[in-house]
Amino acid sequence: GRVAVVYGGNSAERPVSLKSGEAVLQALLRAGVDAFGIDLFGPDGALNPIAQLSEHKIDRVFLILHGRGGEDGTLQGLLEMMNLPYTGSGVSASAIGMDKLRSKQLFVGANLPTPPFVVLETDDDLNRCEVELDYPMMIKPAHEGSSIGMHKVRNRAELTAAWEDACQYDSCVIAEQWITGSEFTVAVLNNKALPAIRLETPHDFYDFDAKYQANDTRYMFDNELSAKQQEDLHTLSEKAFKALGCKDWARVDVMQDAAGQFYLLEVNTAPGMTDHSLVPMAAKEAGISFEQLVVEIVSEA
Ligand code: DAL
Ligand code: MG
Repeated sequence: GRVAVVYGGNSAERPVSLKSGEAVLQALLRAGVDAFGIDLFGPDGALNPIAQLSEHKIDRVFLILHGRGGEDGTLQGLLEMMNLPYTGSGVSASAIGMDKLRSKQLFVGANLPTPPFVVLETDDDLNRCEVELDYPMMIKPAHEGSSIGMHKVRNRAELTAAWEDACQYDSCVIAEQWITGSEFTVAVLNNKALPAIRLETPHDFYDFDAKYQANDTRYMFDNELSAKQQEDLHTLSEKAFKALGCKDWARVDVMQDAAGQFYLLEVNTAPGMTDHSLVPMAAKEAGISFEQLVVEIVSEA
């Protein structure tokens, strides 16, 4: 059948989605799939998604929008109403995955480890941060991706400034305990973890530039984890995928502290597929080419 690669969108991650969508479309075409692209909302932002999706004969949708309005369950709901099968998680897993606060509350409820956090709503919450957490902390808009609006803060002045900046992106902002140690990401394909990737960057953290532009970010499979730790990391990631009710594929971001304990940060239900992206890297390590990866994802839709 005909596959529409739906990408673009109007979130802050639009530029990333344009790259992911182009890479997915080209890989599907190379694999011989009858595919075409739809830049949702179009370059001028004036187009109606229902009209855009109704214009073509579509058998299934490869959803590769990042951020709000595409990764957050709203478009998934529209596609359900239009009876169009789509790749990836359904309405509720997408909505929770896009919401870092609700994700963390769900992890806590499911007894899965996640760094301590404080929701920032009033000035008083800044005091609460200083009581309940230690510097450094991460300040995060709850519904962004690609590290947009995120700051690592080391003192009260930085905390206040970061909160003000993050508020520009979201009405919900959280402060999360910074975990000193290592950062990992684990792609999950059909409930099974692919090899974990350890990320190292000379930046403060794995920020937007380190993700998409810098060439000094290091990606490592030959990490220092023991076989047991690797298995624990994979199992924890699969549990997070399951706890949210994810489907087909996702990427789970995890920190490890100096004592070896893992902490879940979040689950990305429509992870990046650019040439700098992590899921294709993990798939390759597992012997799955980019073409095989996109075909496998779309065949589950
Ligand atoms: N939100 C970005 C695209 C990612 O998770 O890869
Ligand atoms: Mg994310």
